[in-house]
Amino acid sequence: MDKKIVYSGIQPSGSLTIGNYIGALKNFIGLQDEYNCLYCIVDLHAITAPQEPKDLRKNTLDVLALYLACGLDPEKSIIYIQSHVPEHAELAWVLNTYTSYGQLGRMTQFKEKSQKSKEVLAGIFNYPVLMAADILLYGTHLVPVGEDQRQHIELTRDIAERFNRRYSDTFEVPDILAPKVGARIMSLQDPAHKMSKSDENSDGFILILDSEKDTEKKIKRAVTDSLGTFAYSDDQPGLKNLIDIYCAFSTLSADEVVAKYEGQGYGAFKSDLAQVVNDGLRPIRERFKTIRDDKAYLESVYTEGAARASRMAQKMLRKVYKKVGF
Ligand code: ADP
Ligand code: NA
Repeated sequence: MDKKIVYSGIQPSGSLTIGNYIGALKNFIGLQDEYNCLYCIVDLHAITAPQEPKDLRKNTLDVLALYLACGLDPEKSIIYIQSHVPEHAELAWVLNTYTSYGQLGRMTQFKEKSQKSKEVLAGIFNYPVLMAADILLYGTHLVPVGEDQRQHIELTRDIAERFNRRYSDTFEVPDILAPKVGARIMSLQDPAHKMSKSDENSDGFILILDSEKDTEKKIKRAVTDSLGTFAYSDDQPGLKNLIDIYCAFSTLSADEVVAKYEGQGYGAFKSDLAQVVNDGLRPIRERFKTIRDDKAYLESVYTEGAARASRMAQKMLRKVYKKVGF
């Protein structure tokens, strides 16, 4: 039997955080043997927020090098850049005609992002339709993403089902694959909001590529509480988030972390946490430098990846166009 298909992507809209790593990237690695995986760098999504062309180009190669440094293997997975496969945009257009305005207006990510911006771009409104196209284009079964993407995956399912009802079975209806721990890592400065690379306060996030010193500093400054009891509780969201990060970088469960630090202040835990995070990221940080400098290798990876993705995408788009009447 054919292996099932896994699809995911990350925006090259800045440097990746440990939220991106724990919620998504880290989980990509282990799926590569059991599934046929496609891992994309979604630059079409990134331009839904203003980007400097030279920064976008740099960030795109940074994400690619990080994918490889984390252990994505181009021999096993299709690794490519979204804008190199025009079928994404073409399918998105068709799917726009199977998506209602009201549905898109209810997306919480759209509501949050549009509240923050002076001018609300149509691209940010249509973002989830492009994401549905990304996923449906490859007959994807599973989408490894963080919890913040759950609503978008549900919309994708809805669009697929609507299209299938109208034209007979065309799209696979995908499922989300969210990690058990760390599906939603919060800001270190404001545990009510998710950690994001687009946060203005850089103390709120740790970048995968931050220095060990900065990692320590940010963890030391992380907001906790004045209760002083070491517990994994919704009443202590700052501490809870730090425990989640600890679990993601170690083999301990939250209960085991609590047992280990119970009765101690937060200080000792924070300094151990910084060490656990730095130990986990050190090999990635080291590999990144070498890979990022090898332009020819990066080019060969994304060129090959786009060729393989295109073959699959063209097949699906032809099928869709035929059903629609083109
Ligand atoms: P960002 O939200 O940082 O701009 P993306 O939208 O490119 O990042 O998301 C890339 C992946 O990282 C998605 O699977 C998303 O669910 C995951 N992700 C982003 N932020 C977090 C977070 N704070 N915790 C867990 N996963 C996250
Ligand atoms: Na996101």
